[in-house]
Amino acid sequence: MTEPYSVAVIPGDLNGITVTNAALAVADAARPFLTRPLVHTQLPYGADYFLERGITQLGPAELEKLARHDQIFLGAIGDPTKIKPGVLEIGILLKVRQAFDQYVNLRPVVLPQGVPSVLVGKGPEEINFEICRENSEGLYVGIGRVENAGTEDEVGIQEMHCSYRGVKRLAEFAEQRARARKRRETPTIHFVFKTNVLTYASSPWLKVFEEFQGKPDLSVKYMHVDNFGMQMLTHPEQFDVVVIENMFGDIMTDIGAVLQGGIGTAVSGNINPTGAYPSMFEPVHGTAPDKWYEKRDGMWVHNPELMQQMRPEAAILAYAMMLEQMGEVRAAEKMTQAALANIRNPGYGQMPLDTLVENACRALEREAA
Ligand code: IPM
Ligand code: MN
Repeated sequence: MTEPYSVAVIPGDLNGITVTNAALAVADAARPFLTRPLVHTQLPYGADYFLERGITQLGPAELEKLARHDQIFLGAIGDPTKIKPGVLEIGILLKVRQAFDQYVNLRPVVLPQGVPSVLVGKGPEEINFEICRENSEGLYVGIGRVENAGTEDEVGIQEMHCSYRGVKRLAEFAEQRARARKRRETPTIHFVFKTNVLTYASSPWLKVFEEFQGKPDLSVKYMHVDNFGMQMLTHPEQFDVVVIENMFGDIMTDIGAVLQGGIGTAVSGNINPTGAYPSMFEPVHGTAPDKWYEKRDGMWVHNPELMQQMRPEAAILAYAMMLEQMGEVRAAEKMTQAALANIRNPGYGQMPLDTLVENACRALEREAA
């Protein structure tokens, strides 16, 4: 008997749970396409878990539990009626990204065939690139201070840490992606930063950029992040693989999500390419409290009807990205096609969540039969 894959599943909160259930149902229907059995272990990390224990971060016990799995699938976290926004994001998401050294955040920007483009004259041919967002340092190291708090002289200071090793390993990953994508005759990497202003933090970025320019059969370019934002909208076809600082990447990948069909289709792979720790896959979107709660008599009440407006495709596509990283390309492709069939459906916007999940499952079952 082959050893089964073991996947830790963190549904999280609100619609994180909804889309996780959806993705797992579709993943079940894709089982016939796997080369090995796969076991899910659900872990209840989210608002209630933190409240019950009075914690603000996952501790060593939780991390150790997670580390025992091959991969992690995460729905979305955050419930503003229970915990102040920011706590779970830092205590779960950033904690896992950093503790497991998931130094690449892979966010493809690929407009599928048959999905309307928001850019005039730019379709699936033009919108097809990958953003490799630095995922372990930059402005996300959480180092800083508030000076003279509460006075007119208050100053908030947040440090941006960019290490040579950090940029280099990210760029190496991007190089591999660019060569494997084979989208262009000469694979192309754009380094995106803000060297004209962030003169200290840019030092390692420039050093790695210069080193990469010496590589054979690789086109290596640099772009300031403000220009990059503009170029993504005017000439997206010039991009193949992009390497970008953590915070800049956070911002630009939301724009990327819109280019490829909306935030409901965008996926995020938090990857540790060394395999020393599991990687973690998630939709880019959050828990959508507005599609979960409704205010009645000043109270937040869950409304299951609102939930039907939620789109499960980003979660399904994130699960597929996880399978692809595991080498299960056939099952990944089948799940991707099932999600895309929903998105391409002319009635997509009006279809209830349950129907979308049904359709995706039925499509996979038909294929497997
Ligand atoms: C994302 C999110 C996170 C980030 C937040 C929730 C911490 O916006 O994954 O893009 O900033 O990385
Ligand atoms: Mn973000």
